[in-house]
Amino acid sequence: MNQRIFLSPPHMGGNEQAYINEAFQSNYIAPLGHNVDLFEEQIKEYTGAKYALALISGTAAIHLALRVLGIKDGDEVMASTFTFIGSVAPILYERCIPFFIDSDSTSWNLDPDLLEEELAKRSVKGSKQPKALILTHLYGQCAHILRIQAICQHYGVYLIEDAAESLGATMAGQHTGTFGDMGIYSFNGNKIITTSGGGVLVSDDAKLIEHARHLSTQARDAAAHYEHTEYGYNYRMSNIIAGIGRGQMEVLTERIKRRREIFTLYKTELDQVHGITFMPELETSYGNRWLTTLLLPENVSPECIRAHLEEHNIESRPLWKPMHAQPLFKDANGCINGVSDTLFTQGICLPSGSSLRNNDIEMIISTIKQKLVSL
Ligand SMILES: Cc1ncc(COP(=O)(O)O)c(C=O)c1O
Repeated sequence: MNQRIFLSPPHMGGNEQAYINEAFQSNYIAPLGHNVDLFEEQIKEYTGAKYALALISGTAAIHLALRVLGIKDGDEVMASTFTFIGSVAPILYERCIPFFIDSDSTSWNLDPDLLEEELAKRSVKGSKQPKALILTHLYGQCAHILRIQAICQHYGVYLIEDAAESLGATMAGQHTGTFGDMGIYSFNGNKIITTSGGGVLVSDDAKLIEHARHLSTQARDAAAHYEHTEYGYNYRMSNIIAGIGRGQMEVLTERIKRRREIFTLYKTELDQVHGITFMPELETSYGNRWLTTLLLPENVSPECIRAHLEEHNIESRPLWKPMHAQPLFKDANGCINGVSDTLFTQGICLPSGSSLRNNDIEMIISTIKQKLVSL
């Protein structure tokens, strides 16, 4: 049996350990320190965001975005339905009401027409508008962000960009995560680069990030005796973890290049199979191709391919089950057009780690083809 092939394992650059050692040598093991400051600087420089705050997770970053934008109890928050739970769980933390918007087939991400129709309808009727939209750029590919940004601005809806999976992806040269009022990135274990676990919140608004910084360390006011006028969280990234982040940021450009090469290898071979389609890339956008994702022919169930790959010790995964179809959100409202349901029932994510060799990809492709011809 071959060595297990994981979906998206960590891929260290080489300097991470040295930056962790720096923290040990200075004894800034905790709480904050040089690594955290430099990691935040790298994120700002790379993405073009004016301010950045390093946190324990992407989910924590979304939670803080809601808090500092003043979104709370009973407020309605719209969100992409085709996303991972971490995008939207913070809506529930704040006792807000989710409203899900489906995808379009040109981007697989949020459908701007559905969003615009819903907001326009409400505006004509004089009904309440949502406070915010949490928009996800899934699998590293850009949503129709320029249109979505304009729609949110027109209707006065805060835009929070969930760029957890899309660090480094750009639309018209601008980084995902920097179009909205606030944006987040995840450095969870299987992301394009990882700190083992972590997240960053970005914004061009200094006050929002300052407030989030305050909330992320238990909202301590400036007094030696720990004074509190509001409650916060223990959400700050540690100086050890940020050392890994520093090393990983140094290799991000290479990692994106390799993920895109891996996508091309899959596409070149599997595109010829009738009925297979790959996640698109919008014009003027540049995705990071975090995971290569595709739709299988209608007569092939993703589960049968996944199980076959598993027999060969290869990890793959269904596409995210949309939020509107989750038992947790059975009572939620939304604009649902069936696109994300089809993506879920026909789609699969293939191993895409940047450390995979061309031989590995060729082996995965032939394992898939072997199953397809047997059906
Ligand atoms: C789309 C999306 N949103 C949010 C998150 C949450 O990030 P984290 O796991 O760092 O909390 C993730 C990843 O895990 C994700 O893929």
